[in-house]
Amino acid sequence: MPRQFFVGGNFKMNPNSVAEKIALTTLLNKAELDDSVVVAPPALYLIPLKEILRKEIQVAAQNCYFKDSGAFTGEISPAQLKDAGIPYVILGHSERRTLFHETSEIVAQKTKAALAGSLSVILCIGETLEQRETDQTAQVCAAQLQAVVDLLSEADWSKIVIAYEPVWAIGTGKVASAAQAQATHADIRAFLGTAVSPAVAQATRIIYGGSVNKGNCKELSTQPDVDGFLVGGASLKPEFVDIINATR
Ligand code: G3P
Repeated sequence: MPRQFFVGGNFKMNPNSVAEKIALTTLLNKAELDDSVVVAPPALYLIPLKEILRKEIQVAAQNCYFKDSGAFTGEISPAQLKDAGIPYVILGHSERRTLFHETSEIVAQKTKAALAGSLSVILCIGETLEQRETDQTAQVCAAQLQAVVDLLSEADWSKIVIAYEPVWAIGTGKVASAAQAQATHADIRAFLGTAVSPAVAQATRIIYGGSVNKGNCKELSTQPDVDGFLVGGASLKPEFVDIINATR
């Protein structure tokens, strides 16, 4: 069964004004969009954005905690996201792993808690430039995924989209080549086939993130194991519509 193309827009800590947020949503509401789209604004904007976006466009939190309530100042729980009608959460983004010291074990706990809270998860993995240059990409991605495999059931994977985001391509303009993305996505799918099951490997969408733009999205989208994108900078621009429709 073909996997539906999936595009996420990770706004990170942007836009920095309500006016910019409304401009972005107006553009998306008017556009003819081919595939499933999820946008991830800063937490403050999740509910207002959900209220003004057309229903086919879903929203995602950029993070959540792994407890449902308690004395965790500054955190947001899966239960609170669910209660607010937020269906997706991005977990394990490399900026969370590097800037906020989230280990793969913490990412796995958050993933398990998010799924237990009936959220769908965009699970980010990816290697650093040094790991790429020393041919460690496959084992780094496998280790990041193994921590999650250890906590989940086979059925849980139906609610996960894996985002392969090479750290060296994020925000740098140095996009992975189509061949690099395809090779690593194929390695990730092969890992899922042995670590979980062939059915999960076949069904799980593996999307690419890291300097995707309207100029490179079409070639990347033709790769058999590239099932979509997680877009940062370009998701804040009108070209985000072109990226969503890359498979046209
Ligand atoms: O989560 C997507 C993001 O990390 C990619 O950022 O700006 O390289 O598209 P960017």
